[in-house]
Amino acid sequence: MTQQHLTVVNHPLVQHKLTIMRNKQTSTAGFRRLLREISLLLAYEVTRELEMTETTIETPLCEMQAPTLEGKKLALISILRAGNGLMDGILELIPGARVGFIGLYRDPETLKPVQYYSKVPNALDARMTIVVDPMLATGNSSVAAIDLLKQQGAKNLRFLCLLAAPEGVQRMKEAHPDVPIVTASLDERLDDHGYIWPGLGDAGDRMFGTK
Ligand code: URA
Repeated sequence: MTQQHLTVVNHPLVQHKLTIMRNKQTSTAGFRRLLREISLLLAYEVTRELEMTETTIETPLCEMQAPTLEGKKLALISILRAGNGLMDGILELIPGARVGFIGLYRDPETLKPVQYYSKVPNALDARMTIVVDPMLATGNSSVAAIDLLKQQGAKNLRFLCLLAAPEGVQRMKEAHPDVPIVTASLDERLDDHGYIWPGLGDAGDRMFGTK
């Protein structure tokens, strides 16, 4: 079955944890811990289509053909800086993943994302590539990061975020209809400052304790 363009993970544990994260009273330490826990649960969903093969093993009772992951290790790409908050949980679930980072800033005149850093795993054409950023807001940085990864050969991409705004989902659908998005919530809209509403504020500030 092919993954749909947008999957909202409605699992009760995910939704409960997300509510605590949205609450402005939640501490930096609590926010970080919950983000790690949720990212692990979202990773379970986003990796649903990893390719499988079979291998012969012996249980204590008999020989059997058993399923195992096929192909090269997947690539996990963090969009700096907030994407890093999702990495630990995912790497706990998929410790062999290869890891990359993409840094983008917004040009104050053109308002377009400009890349200031990129270091990604090799052989992206042979790996499932999961791009992570907690907030899919305007979609500009996600689209730019995926443009870059496609230029480097990535073909089998997924995008994982904690919250998505309809505007960002639409922008991704137009630019990269082949990239399924997995999120814990599709919120109402963007506000006038480009924040997701009702959202949870600035994800980077909340996870790193900056303001
Ligand atoms: N980035 C954030 O950290 N929060 C938003 O609401 C939107 C973008």
